[in-house]
Amino acid sequence: MSPIVEITGLNHWFGQAAARKQALFDINLTMARGSFTVLMGPSGSGKTTLLTLIGCLRALQEGSLRLIDQELKDADEAQLVLMRRKLGFIFQAHNLHESLTAGQNVMMGAQVHPGVEADLAARASSHILGLVGLAERVDYWPANLSGGQKQRVAVARALVGGPALLLADEPTAALDKDSASEVIDLLRRLGHKRGMTTLLVTHDNRILDRADRILTLEDGRIVADDVRPSK
Ligand SMILES: Nc1ncnc2c1ncn2[C@@H]1O[C@H](COP(=O)(O)OP(=O)(O)O)[C@@H](O)[C@H]1O
Ligand SMILES: [Mg+2]
Repeated sequence: MSPIVEITGLNHWFGQAAARKQALFDINLTMARGSFTVLMGPSGSGKTTLLTLIGCLRALQEGSLRLIDQELKDADEAQLVLMRRKLGFIFQAHNLHESLTAGQNVMMGAQVHPGVEADLAARASSHILGLVGLAERVDYWPANLSGGQKQRVAVARALVGGPALLLADEPTAALDKDSASEVIDLLRRLGHKRGMTTLLVTHDNRILDRADRILTLEDGRIVADDVRPSK
């Protein structure tokens, strides 16, 4: 099977003229389907920049990026929008809408997929909230959920559309130890079940044991690529 992510010769810069600064240097990276990869590195090393490039949230400047068998090097906005719908995103802050219930927040994730009808989206949302252990909380407002529960709602929202690739940027940074483990176990379990590929940025040493592969970025370069024995 072809890899789900294939990056070759990727370079990226920020700023203009004299302020122009290179953030990523000659990134070459292939990710196999179904793998759970952790991306580490000090603050400012380029982790978020790389994740947002892979997520089609920022325009590619130099190099090639193939996602799910599609070259995105010269893709137009319409192609990027279609590709983004095949991806799931989880950010450090849960980014739930405070004026929507847990169930409605998850439905927002389902409805980015065109043609998903409302009742179908509602059923998928309840189902996935059950999988993350929040069946009883569908009608709760975010304000009445704990930090760990809110992050699990964000996980459910990212997963409800059945993404081929999940991109998570420090999703456990705001969580205590137990909530963080719960969220990671959940991602691994659902990932394996659905054949989803996960790329997760973290500083959290506790997560490393659970990774199939650990990539390390330093000053915009991949300096280590450690494939772990399969568990
Ligand atoms: N929007 C931006 N404008 C200018 N510089 C940026 C921007 N985003 C990131 N950078 C710079 O790019 C480098 C990598 O940043 P980032 O990808 O956010 O690192 P990390 O996520 O590893 O902390 C840093 O030097 C940062 O200051
Ligand atoms: Mg970052």
